[in-house]
Amino acid sequence: MSFSLLLLSLFAPRALAKEPADGAMLYARYCALCHGDDRQGHAADHAPSLRSPQLMGNASPGFLWTAVAQGRPGTAMAAFAEEQGGPLSHDQQHVLLEWLMARSGVPSEPVDDVVVNGDPLQGRVVYDEHCASCHGVKGEGGAGTALGNPVFLATASDGFLRHTIQQGRAATPMPAFAQTLGEKETDDVVSFLRARAIGWDAPPPVRVRPPDLDAAVLNPDGPPARLEHRERRFVSSVSVAAALAREERIILLDARPVSDWQRSHIPGALPGPFYDGVDAIVPHLPRDGTPIVAYCACPHAASGKIVDALKGRGFRQARILDEGVLHWAAAGHPLELGDGAPAKSRSDALEPTG
Ligand code: HEC
Ligand code: HEC
Repeated sequence: MSFSLLLLSLFAPRALAKEPADGAMLYARYCALCHGDDRQGHAADHAPSLRSPQLMGNASPGFLWTAVAQGRPGTAMAAFAEEQGGPLSHDQQHVLLEWLMARSGVPSEPVDDVVVNGDPLQGRVVYDEHCASCHGVKGEGGAGTALGNPVFLATASDGFLRHTIQQGRAATPMPAFAQTLGEKETDDVVSFLRARAIGWDAPPPVRVRPPDLDAAVLNPDGPPARLEHRERRFVSSVSVAAALAREERIILLDARPVSDWQRSHIPGALPGPFYDGVDAIVPHLPRDGTPIVAYCACPHAASGKIVDALKGRGFRQARILDEGVLHWAAAGHPLELGDGAPAKSRSDALEPTG
C-alpha cells in the first residue's frame, strides 16, 4: 500500500468496534516489552513514552499510525502492520491506537499547522550544542530517538517538531527547551532537521515464506558451535560469526517481529518473535545440546524473553546475542534479505538513520 493510500485508509469507515479490553491485551502482548507495562517508555532501549501528553495529544493520527505500521527502520521499532509481515491487522491497529489515545486522557490536537522558515546552517550549531548528546551526532539516536530516521522525518510536521522541542516530553529525558532556546534558534534547529528529510514512501509488502521449522539446525553435520559465553547468558557477535564461518552446528532465532526478519536477518536464522513464545518451535528443536542463539535489536529484551522461555523448557544452552543485531550489522557481519539473498550492502538491509 502506498503511503498516501495508507493515510487515506485512516479515514475509511471503521470496522465494527472491538471490546476496549482488546487494546490493553494487544498493548501487553506487543508493546509493553519496550514501551513499559504502563506506557512509561524506556523499558528496553530508548523506546519513548507512549503516554506523554506532548506525543499523544499533539502528534497527528497519521504520524502515530505510520510509526506503528511501518516502524522506524534501522532502530528497534519494527513494522507492526500485517502487510509488512508484522502481527497487527488494520483493525487491531485501530483498536490499539484508540486505546492508547483513550488511556493518555488528552484530546487529539495535532499541531501540524505551522510553517517554519529557519536557517539550517545555524540550526546545525544549535543541534550540536543542545541535542547531539542524546540524539546522536548524525541523528542516529542514543538516549533519545533517531531524529535522522527517514520514516520519522517524512511523517513529523514542522509544527510537531517545534512543539516537541519547546514543550519536551513530560516524565522522559526529553527536556523542554522553551526557556533555553529563543524562537529563532528553535526555528533554526527545526529547519536543520527538516533539511535532512530525504523523503520516504512505505515499501511494498514483503512476504517471504519463512523456512520450515524442521530446518532450524544450521550445519547439521558440523560439530556444535564453540561460543564464548558471559554469565551462561550472553555470546558475542564475533564468537557467533566465527562459529558460522567454521560451519559449526547452531540454531539462530530472530526474536523481533517477523517484519524485521522479512527485511533482513542473520543468514539461516528462523523467525521466533518474542510475542509468540516458544510453544510452536520447541517440538522442532533437537534435544542434543545444539547451541541456540536468539537475537533482537533492542538489544536484549526480546531475545532475553525467548531465551528464558527456552531455558524453562530445558534448553539450558540457549544464549542471547550480546550486542543485538544492529551492532552485528554495524560490525559488518553478514545479513541476508528475507528471500534468502545476501544483503548487497548494509544500507540495503538497514536504512541509514544518519
Ligand atoms: C523491541 C522494542 C519495541 C517494541 C516491541 C515496540 N516498540 Fe515502539 N519504539 C521502540 C523504539 C526503540 C522507538 C524509537 C525508535 C527511534 O529511535 O526512532 C519506538 C518508537 C515508537 C513510536 C514513535 C514515538 C515517538 O516519540 O515518535 C510509537 C508511536 C511506537 N513506538 C509505538 C509502539 C507500539 C504501539 C508498539 C506495539 C505494537 C511498539 N511501539 C512496540 C521500540 C519498540
Ligand atoms: C537529555 C537528553 C535529550 C536532549 C538533550 C534532547 N533530547 Fe530530544 N528526546 C530525548 C528523548 C529521551 C526523547 C524521547 C522522549 C520519550 O522518551 O518519550 C526525545 C524526543 C525528541 C523528539 C521527538 C522524536 C520522535 O521520535 O517523535 C524530538 C523532535 C526531539 N527530541 C528533538 C530534540 C532537539 C531538537 C533537541 C535539542 C534542541 C533535543 N531533542 C535534545 C532526549 C533528549
